[in-house]
Amino acid sequence: MAKSTTTHARQAIGWLTLASTSLLLGACSMPGTRTNASLPTLDGRAPLVIAHRGASGYVPEETLEAYARAIELGADVIEMDLVSTKDGVLITRHDPNLAISTDVAKHPEFASRKKTIRVDGETQTGWFSNDFTLAEIRMLGAISTDAERPQQYNGLYKVPTFQEVIDLAKARSAQTGRTVAIYPETKNPSYFRALGLPMEDKLIAMINAAGWNSKTAPIYVQSFEPGSLKYMKSKGLNTRLIQLIDGDGVDMKTGTVTFANPSDRPYDWTQAGDKRLYNVMTTPAGLAEIKTYADGIGPWKRFIISTKGAIGADGKINDADATSIQATSLVADAHKAGLFVHPFTFRNESRRLAADYRGGAKNEYLAFYRAGVDGVFTDFPDTALEARALYLKETGR
Ligand code: G3P
Ligand code: CA
Repeated sequence: MAKSTTTHARQAIGWLTLASTSLLLGACSMPGTRTNASLPTLDGRAPLVIAHRGASGYVPEETLEAYARAIELGADVIEMDLVSTKDGVLITRHDPNLAISTDVAKHPEFASRKKTIRVDGETQTGWFSNDFTLAEIRMLGAISTDAERPQQYNGLYKVPTFQEVIDLAKARSAQTGRTVAIYPETKNPSYFRALGLPMEDKLIAMINAAGWNSKTAPIYVQSFEPGSLKYMKSKGLNTRLIQLIDGDGVDMKTGTVTFANPSDRPYDWTQAGDKRLYNVMTTPAGLAEIKTYADGIGPWKRFIISTKGAIGADGKINDADATSIQATSLVADAHKAGLFVHPFTFRNESRRLAADYRGGAKNEYLAFYRAGVDGVFTDFPDTALEARALYLKETGR
């Protein structure tokens, strides 16, 4: 979701952000002036590093290998998207369309299952998880979803079930003595419910079986669709719940988040005829509503620190053509409402970094850590951890 955006030179880096950054850096550089006050997170603890789809910057996403690599790199949490197979098994894929993240197109035995359908209002051509049994999905190999990332593992790793990822997290936690949490997302829940393959009750049963149905268990459950979260809460899910908040792009002149299908509103709102956009969730009233059923928000990062600029000379929209602007009040507003904030998604590639970060991904993490976020979804957990170490050092820890 949430495409990258924007724009041009260094006109308007939010001066307040810069000012507060300078103060922190200044304090850091002078011995004896560092502070040990609690961090500006909701609970005063260090922000979480959440490995988005595993260590997806290095290994084909949402595979056991990607999750294992993330754990080896030291991630606090591994994130996974859940979709359903034809026989109702929850597997970890970002999209029901298997063409995006597997080698299904290279399997002649499945050629006849290629079709064009609507997924959450978007026309897609491909092969869809709901047309494949788990046994058939076991025949596929995962591939990189990003041409800029390593391709040498394409086809080598299988699509795991959610249960296998739970088992991995538990096994690695036991082996290392370091608890690794998981962060499952019900992906396209209305789509699967309409096909007679609802995910929520299965997810709750698996969480109960894992012994993790509590607020203190090492699990966070997320969705873009409020109805999915509200349903699970009503059915006795007691874990931490996170409302995801999407956007499509950024108005390069103003830095305002823009909206377009399918990143304009939750699809259950679309189905109900509710025309509001995701941005209503970022208002104090929207946050108060979220607090009635969730514990945190997972907003696209541009709702917190956006960018301004102009389309680059190559005619493409790159973050590197834009410059960061002053942080919004969203983190403070969410904290005031009692909600933690885990923005997505942080990536190392220089074209995905605003120009003022000067190609240094750690500078982006530092800006968000200083803004008080409670965690970050990242494709490169090692970089997020290095930046967190710098942040903790500068705050006297
Ligand atoms: O779940 C957080 C983040 O992953 C949301 O974006 O599209 O990558 O699932 P997406
Ligand atoms: Ca996700």
